[in-house]
This record gives sequence, structure tokens and C-alpha cells, in this order.
Amino acid sequence: MWKGRFQEPTSALVQSYGESVSFDWRLYAHDIRGSVAHAKGLEKAGIITAEERASIERGLKEIQHEIEQGNFEFQSSLEDVHMNIESDLTRRIGPAGARLHTARSRNDQVATDVRLYCKDAVDQVVGLVRCLQRALVEAAERGEQAVMPGYTHLQRGQPVLFAHHLLAYVEMLERDAARFEDAKKRMDVMPLGSGALAGSTVIINREFVAKQLGFSSVSQNSMDAISDRDFVAEFLFDIALCGIHLSRLSEDIILWCSSEFGFVTLSDAHTTGSSLMPQKKNPDVAELTRGKSGRLVGNLVCLLTILKGLPMTYNRDMQEDKEPLFDSIDTIKSALGVFAEMIAGLEVNAQRTKAAASDPMLLATDLADYLVKNSVPFRQAHEIIGKLVAFSIKQKRGFAQLKLTEFQRFWKGFSKDVYDVLNLSTALEARKGIGAPSPQNVRKQLDRWRKQLEA
Ligand code: ARG
Repeated sequence: MWKGRFQEPTSALVQSYGESVSFDWRLYAHDIRGSVAHAKGLEKAGIITAEERASIERGLKEIQHEIEQGNFEFQSSLEDVHMNIESDLTRRIGPAGARLHTARSRNDQVATDVRLYCKDAVDQVVGLVRCLQRALVEAAERGEQAVMPGYTHLQRGQPVLFAHHLLAYVEMLERDAARFEDAKKRMDVMPLGSGALAGSTVIINREFVAKQLGFSSVSQNSMDAISDRDFVAEFLFDIALCGIHLSRLSEDIILWCSSEFGFVTLSDAHTTGSSLMPQKKNPDVAELTRGKSGRLVGNLVCLLTILKGLPMTYNRDMQEDKEPLFDSIDTIKSALGVFAEMIAGLEVNAQRTKAAASDPMLLATDLADYLVKNSVPFRQAHEIIGKLVAFSIKQKRGFAQLKLTEFQRFWKGFSKDVYDVLNLSTALEARKGIGAPSPQNVRKQLDRWRKQLEA
């Protein structure tokens, strides 16, 4: 491609060191879309004829077909996907192919391809986020009646519904989907026409080309357009955070599957056995996802570090953006897909969660609230109930087993109605403020999510 200036061929080591086609071949469909649109722009600018444009289009379609059939031979001597396709096109159709690269550089070409690729990837990832949200809502509905302890510091705190706990993840995933959609707005700007860095003296109607490619706008500074990989960094961050959410869900599932908790059971199809211990049923999918989320963070840090010291505009370092990008997209897609399946097979063990939620200490806060409703300032109420907790632990009797006179030792105003507070169902019913886990609230949330996710 640059034989004019050079007298010596590229060293074989340099060739294999610098080639990217072994991984950027994945951009082929977007590269071809970009070239088809660019050819239309060239025709409009009078650089190529309608016949030349048609033969370029035909040649590119043939190449795409061959790639998809697995009959196209990518050559690493041609460095990247862009030169592989262009060179094969020219071999196929002759002079018209040689005109295609007018007013275009691989710099604006690759920036365009990667943006198109990312936009499509966002749609796929968001689709998978929605599938997982649906699976979580359905699992929450299957276990709607199950009560469980809510934890802070992994210590039992207050009673909640299992469904409320799962819906917390649906909320997280909703923010992920919104972040992906938002990132897409910044991917949706076309760099094509920025040339190597300073546009071209051959004027192409960029807005026309953008329209062909489905971009909402065109970049306004050719140098920024060439050097910008912010959209990749943003996408990698959004993927990493989504991965972190899956990792937290993984951790919950791993704990819940342990014999110590025994809160949930996963299907045989989504667990694995041990080659040595016959009794084992391991939550490998969750563990792998917890592990893979580390790679997603690594890919983000990798790209930020690549970009950190780069002068304007294009630098070859930027070729290193693709492997972390592809890896993160592949990883999050497979993680979301397998999670949706696994959650569809998850069953809550409502007896176990109820037994854990029947720990009387879960209602200590409710007792403090009882005092507050009887005009005791909360700080004082906290201290009174703290002493009552210590007494109950020492006595090895739960609150409900204490006599009214024993309650009254800590605060004179206790009356018989204190025993009404010490009931798990009443305690849950009472949590009816917006966002709290009363069964009625949770029902409404389930309905809201169902409707929203059907749309
Ligand atoms: N394979 C290159 C990349 O991904 C394409 C752009 C190459 N441009 C250049 N001037 N060498 O970054």
C-alpha cells in the first residue's frame, strides 16, 4: 500500500508484530458498510461514476459473502481488515477499487468502523440485560412469599422479602441499560471524512454519508475525530460496572447456595460436580462471573493506560484498543446470557429463608420504633432496646418469650400491644413507605417491572 516510498520490504517480524487482522477481521461488516457509504459520497462528489460505484458495491458484497462463508483468506501481510478488503476489491474489480480510498484514511475509517461496531454491540448487550431483568422478575415472582433477613455487614439486619432483594438487582441492571444507551449517543457521531487528521481537499458531503450509515451527526473537528477513543473507554466502563453488578449477584448466589445458608437451589444444568467429591454441586457460573468481572475492569484500565500519554492525533498505540474492547463485549454478552438461564432455574428455599428471618433480633429496630411511636426520642429508644437485646441474649429467650413485666423493667410504658410488633408478617406489612419491602409494595413493583420489561 505504501510501496512508492520504500526500497526495502517490511521485516517479517515487524509484519507479525504489527498485524491486527487476526483480531480486527471482526470489523469486516462495518468496514464494508462504511466503504459502501463512502463510495456513494465519492459518486456524489464526481470522483467516481455511477458504474464504478455499483461495481465497488458489488465487489464488496461478494467479499462480505465470502467472509461469511469462511472462504475469504485474510493475509497478515496486508496488516488489517481495511487493507485486506480494499486490496481484494481492487484485485476483483480493477481501477474502480483503486479509487475507493480517495479522501479517506484508515484513521477515519477505523474510527468509523469501531463506532458502528460499538453501536450494534450496545443494542445486543442491552437486549441481554433485558433478558436477565426478566429472569430476575420471574424468579422474584416464583418466590414472592419468601421472607428473608436483609443484611448489612453480612450480619442479619431487618426482615425483607426475597423478591425485594432480587428486584434490587433489576434496578441496578436498569441503570446499566440506561448507561449503555447514553454511551451510544456519543458513539453516534461520524468521523468519516476527517481523513488522516485534516480532512481532504476533495470535498465529500459528510452529512449525506452519515445518513447512509445511520449516524445522527458528523464530527466537527477532524483532529478530535481521529484521536477520540472516549466512546470505547466509556463503553468499557459501562461494561465493567455491569460486570461488577453481576459479580455482586454472584457473591449472593454463592453464599445462598452454601449449606450454611441454603437459601436457594440452582438447577443441575447450571452447576457442576467435583471430579473427586461425589456430593458436590458447585455454583461455577457465579464464581466464573465473579472472576471474569476482574477482566472487565482490567480491559478498562488497559485502554485508559493506552490513551493516557498519546499526543494528537492518531498513534499506532490505538490499534491496541480492539482486543480489550472485543473481549469485554464477548465476556459481558456471555455472562448476561448464561445468568439469564441460570436465574430461570433458581428456586428459593422459603423454609430456610423464613427460619433465618425468624431470628427475633431482626425486630429490634421495630421495638425501637414502637417506643418512638410512644413519644420516646429515637436515641433514647435505641439505648433502651439495646439493653433489652443484651438481656434477651443473656436469658437465651427471644423478645416474644419475655414477660410484659420484664419489658417494663427497661421502660415503664410497655403495654400488651408490644407483642403485636413481634410478628414477622406485621413487621413486613408495616414497611409500606415508598421503596420499602411490604408485600403490597413488592407486588406493585413486580407489576411495574413486568409491564416495563414487556414494552
Ligand atoms: N489497524 C489500524 C488500527 O486499528 C488502522 C489504522 C492504521 N493507520 C495507520 N496510519 N497506520 O489502528
